[in-house]
Amino acid sequence: MWDRTSSKQCGTVVLLFSLLLASASLDTLDQTQTLTNGQTLVSLNGIFELGFFDRTTSTTTKWYIGIWYTVSREIVVWVANHDNPLNDSSGVLAISQGSIVLNDSLQNPIWSSSVNPSTPKMSDPILKLLDSGNLVLKDRNRDDILWQSFDHPSNTFLLGMKIGKDLISGVEWYITSWKSRNDPSKGNYCYKMDTLGQPELVLWDGERIKFKTGAWIGPRFSGLPEMATYENMLNFKLVSTTKEINYSIEAADKGMHLFRLIMNETGVLQRMMWDQEKKIWHEYWSWPNDMCDSYAKCGPFGTCNSNDAPICKCLPGFSPKSPKEWSMRNNSGGCKREKPLNCQGNSIGFKSVKNVKLPDTENATIDATISIKECKKRCSMNCYCLAYSLLDIRGGGSGCIMWEYDLIDIKYIEGGQDLYLKLDKSILDATGKRKIHVLIGIMVPSTVMLLLLLTVHCIRQRQRKKKTGYADLGQDKRNYNKSDSLHYTELPMFDLETVIAATANFSDANKLGQGGFGIVYKGVLSGGEEIAVKRLSKDSSQGLNEFMNEVMLIAKLQHRNLVRLLGCCIHDSERILIYEFMPNKSLDFFIFDKVRRELLSWTMRLEIVAGISRGILYLHQDSRFNIIHRDLKAANILLDGEMTPKVSDFGIARLFKREQNEMDTGRVVGTRGYMSPEYAMEGKISVKSDVYSFGVLLLEIISGKRNQGNHNLIAFAWKLWQEGKLIQLADEAIDNTDGVASEIVRFVHVGLLCVQECADDRPTMSIVLSMLSNECMSLPEPKKPVLSTKVTPESSSSPIELTVTGIEGR
Ligand SMILES: *[C@@H]1O[C@H](CO)[C@@H](O)[C@H](O)[C@H]1NC(C)=O
Ligand SMILES: *[C@@H]1O[C@H](CO)[C@@H](O)[C@H](O)[C@H]1NC(C)=O
Ligand SMILES: *[C@@H]1O[C@H](CO)[C@@H](O)[C@H](O)[C@H]1NC(C)=O
Ligand SMILES: *[C@@H]1O[C@H](CO)[C@@H](O)[C@H](O)[C@H]1NC(C)=O
Ligand SMILES: *[C@@H]1O[C@H](CO)[C@@H](O)[C@H](O)[C@H]1NC(C)=O
Ligand SMILES: *[C@@H]1O[C@H](CO)[C@@H](O)[C@H](O)[C@H]1NC(C)=O
Repeated sequence: MWDRTSSKQCGTVVLLFSLLLASASLDTLDQTQTLTNGQTLVSLNGIFELGFFDRTTSTTTKWYIGIWYTVSREIVVWVANHDNPLNDSSGVLAISQGSIVLNDSLQNPIWSSSVNPSTPKMSDPILKLLDSGNLVLKDRNRDDILWQSFDHPSNTFLLGMKIGKDLISGVEWYITSWKSRNDPSKGNYCYKMDTLGQPELVLWDGERIKFKTGAWIGPRFSGLPEMATYENMLNFKLVSTTKEINYSIEAADKGMHLFRLIMNETGVLQRMMWDQEKKIWHEYWSWPNDMCDSYAKCGPFGTCNSNDAPICKCLPGFSPKSPKEWSMRNNSGGCKREKPLNCQGNSIGFKSVKNVKLPDTENATIDATISIKECKKRCSMNCYCLAYSLLDIRGGGSGCIMWEYDLIDIKYIEGGQDLYLKLDKSILDATGKRKIHVLIGIMVPSTVMLLLLLTVHCIRQRQRKKKTGYADLGQDKRNYNKSDSLHYTELPMFDLETVIAATANFSDANKLGQGGFGIVYKGVLSGGEEIAVKRLSKDSSQGLNEFMNEVMLIAKLQHRNLVRLLGCCIHDSERILIYEFMPNKSLDFFIFDKVRRELLSWTMRLEIVAGISRGILYLHQDSRFNIIHRDLKAANILLDGEMTPKVSDFGIARLFKREQNEMDTGRVVGTRGYMSPEYAMEGKISVKSDVYSFGVLLLEIISGKRNQGNHNLIAFAWKLWQEGKLIQLADEAIDNTDGVASEIVRFVHVGLLCVQECADDRPTMSIVLSMLSNECMSLPEPKKPVLSTKVTPESSSSPIELTVTGIEGR
């Protein structure tokens, strides 16, 4: 056998020689061999080659290990030591102690592959360059891969690679530009997956979003209609599970490897294919490719059309926010509504805005399981919903996206989607009329033409109706399942041993807290991922199937402001839920702490209140299941690394059987101080009892004080209201200068509306959100809250029957 170690001086010659003699081993390096300058590994299909290459700038020449195409050696698709080049060509690549190591001539380590220390020891480790261009480290006799270059991409995306995110460890796969043509160190541009909302890819220029592909709509991204052209040649795949979301491309023709996507040094993505006849790389398309691709070009509620001059317009029913800036082609301010939406009554309707790239879905609500008809109904009923659209365009279409916040990044494109925009009826009628006026205005010279046009228009309308009539959508069960599985695949099951190992056998040191339904522990999985483990108290008498149904239901509730369930574990009578870990603990840890509450500025508190209310609104109304939380309190609001509030413990009440006497077990659902009078005294639960708890929480967040004893915080707020001094409720830690005072007063006012004695008087969560965010909305006078609760569960002698009416509501 050919020995690479001995071939330092005349590598190329040996290589060519060995090509004839020992071609079978050319793609592989084992632990007895080394690779030095001049020697290479070549994939079996002869397309990719791994070895040393150099790049020369004006002053120096640097050496790297990389992978390139044999047909065009200048195109390097992967670089190992981007940021730590060799100063000369005398590096040595080898397998050493289970990882790949690149040393310089003085045995200084230059680069090495990171390998998880817990991976089993390999008896015969090999490094192999696969036909796909993937360099893998594995045991010769085993299939599992310990390390692969596809997990550490450079500036090039190849078939079989992925862009995405591991939702458990937070690891992301993405491509990054080189600094310059001759400098492979990491440049400013990268192309990543955005997993908030419906997944989409984002081109970042440093900290700034340069371009977004638009949401994934089934076969492709909304903003890249060009993808449709390649559907017979390339298979675009988006996989979304509770563990991982990734995007990859497969070739319909398995032999096709001379295809690549590159994030180039000037911040442009180029899709390149090799032209075998001309022996050149051909650029098929590149993006961003027009001014409208620039993210949020026309601001909120603006639309962009690169064939128009000017390119920016406002959505129907909207006009420029700042006409002066707008006329000077500064469109970033966007547009504002001409007539506000009236939440109550039937005064709204929808206008379809056709052929668009859908607005940014970062904050949108997504439901893959309902029809567009149901989607429309939900959007009409939700005061906060501004627009809706179809989620998945395949096979007649299915699923629902609803937007409640600014509609951003809308572009007109050939073959785009339809966006249904909520407008006041009077505006709808007016936009309709305006169009007819224009038509008649143009056509008056020729009435004949007008008639012709109208006829054609009517026929088209009829045909279109036939093709995509909404009534057909509900019936196509197959499509439902398809999109359902796209979004909600099986929930991962953890074995008990894994959970025990992660939590040091539920040790007290790992205990994070104790709630009504069990104890929460911090855990660390073997890969290093941090998790929160909730061990449910054993007396849930539910059957296994029923339990799993409920857990799957909780797993399907996904919202930015809800804690995400990662998996569960069932073993004999053990029932364990595994959640994402929240590094900033819970809200009570901040707001009731003398020192830490100083960290919470008014803006942060405002964001926290807004986030909590969105989370609750989702539970009450926007998720399919209409869940009542029953135990909202500061300790159940967790905070992630960016202080985004996440409601936790939702839906858990459902895991326990309804008949169970919750008094007996000592697990009173609900916490003193947050319980509405009708719940505390009569055990009545409704969405309005959650609103009450939210009101208490709101007052606590503003004041930094607990509502203890006989509702003393509420009593204090009520006293201040009567004296007209609501501002005095604010925590001294809040700097209330600068127009903040009026906001604080409005928030306290809303808090008082939420804690009114009579449940019917309290606003719903969607109205609460409008009240909090709309400074012009006039608020009703709050009625007197209950200032002392005579009967509380703790003091009552007879057990309280809990009627859990709302929980079953579907
Ligand atoms: C290469 O040379 C530069 C400049 O002399 C030095 O800073 C760097 O450490 C050297 N790198 C290696 C791998 O020897
Ligand atoms: C690389 O250098 C380290 C010491 O820095 C040494 O232990 C290792 O054997 C070297 N590997 C090779 C392949 O030269
Ligand atoms: C994408 O994620 C799924 C689910 O985790 C996984 O099975 C698949 O291999 C991933 N795709 C690629 C190209 O790695
Ligand atoms: C990046 O791609 C664009 C579009 O094809 C091209 O005009 C530009 O020259 C490329 N930049 C580099 C550095 O190759
Ligand atoms: C563009 O308009 C926004 C407000 O709409 C303003 O804040 C910004 O300064 C303007 N930019 C320029 C370059 O004038
Ligand atoms: C989504 O919401 C966050 C927080 O309110 C906001 O910063 C962001 O701009 C929103 N994104 C879009 C696209 O509206």
